[in-house]
Amino acid sequence: MIRFIDEMELETKRVFMRVDFNVPLNEQLEITDDNRIRAALPTIRYALNNGARLIVASHLGRPKGKRMPEFSLAPVAERLGLLLEQEVVMAPDCIGEDVEKMVASLEPSKVLMLENLRFHKGETENNSEFASSLARLCDAYVNDAFAVSHRAHASVVGVPKRVVECGAGFLMKNEITYFKKAMHKPERPFVAILGGAKVSSKLGAIETIMSKVDSLVIGGAMANTFLLAKGYSVGNSKVEMDLVDTAKDIMNRAESSGKSLLLPVDVVVAKELAPDVTWQEVSVAEVPEDMMILDIGSETISLFVDQVKKAKTIVWNGPLGAFEMEPFDRGTVEVAKAVGSTPALSIIGGGDTGAAVKKAGESENVSYVSTGGGAFLTLLEGKELPGFKALEECSSRQKGGLK
Ligand code: 3PG
Repeated sequence: MIRFIDEMELETKRVFMRVDFNVPLNEQLEITDDNRIRAALPTIRYALNNGARLIVASHLGRPKGKRMPEFSLAPVAERLGLLLEQEVVMAPDCIGEDVEKMVASLEPSKVLMLENLRFHKGETENNSEFASSLARLCDAYVNDAFAVSHRAHASVVGVPKRVVECGAGFLMKNEITYFKKAMHKPERPFVAILGGAKVSSKLGAIETIMSKVDSLVIGGAMANTFLLAKGYSVGNSKVEMDLVDTAKDIMNRAESSGKSLLLPVDVVVAKELAPDVTWQEVSVAEVPEDMMILDIGSETISLFVDQVKKAKTIVWNGPLGAFEMEPFDRGTVEVAKAVGSTPALSIIGGGDTGAAVKKAGESENVSYVSTGGGAFLTLLEGKELPGFKALEECSSRQKGGLK
């Protein structure tokens, strides 16, 4: 059992809080979406209200062990300060003497933000010396970084191994609660919508989720491989030839276990994915040789929306078309609107799907938008998250120690 932050004694303690502030930045290094920062605010505020000397740690991008100014967390520290309405001091690094001195002089209810953990190779390699240097900074560890819990990195698994007192934050609690509600005790019908580019990246999720749902709705470029497996020609569309047999097998198994597996019946096609390109809607049996599938068509939208309306539980991962470019966002946006207007429990996972639901103006109307991309998919696959395991182990060590 994982302990949570509200079961911890924080007053005057140096609390190392792992968050996932891996937010998108534009070329001017301005934050274009601060959802992940806002999502951690309840945990940060709780720690500050309870007198913690708070050390906030995150990665940003993939600098691969090099110090790269474009991946500095300085803009994030500034935004966090604005949101908290208090100063957030930016450390020059995440380990080392200078940082240790800054931590030593950090007062209760004040915040220090460490520089990008991934400026050191030791983070992604879970190097023990690096993890010990991080652990030395604190008395207690809190993980509120659901979106990075699938990575066995030093700040996710190495630090909790070396700290006596650990717990999870409120964001983590929400993620776990909603996910369990949907996957462990779903109200039926339970419908999963899977989209996105590749069957290969979702194979594990398809396998696990198929055993739980009543209907599986497949869209996005990954549906092309299924259409090919059904014998349709998909023109120049993206396909994974090596997974055609797997797609056939999945469809056969769905049929023999009485699950409905819905694929597009019509699609939007164009010669290329480009602004202002000429497009048309065709049946899946009539995709021209020189065109590619870029969205689901009108009939498919109605079919998918019908499924959504009937559902009592919905889990959605992956957009249904090239939603980043109009008009190929229509299928995803229409389905998002339907999900937003049903009273069903609806859980949206994956950065792209979250962005699509936001674009449709439905973020506030769905039950829960997960902050996790890879982490959400790992949970869907039924796998254990290393970040959860590390917290569980730390919590049971604590209990053992208290006996
Ligand atoms: C994410 O954006 O999904 C997380 O921050 C993890 O990032 P990563 O894929 O670079 O480990």
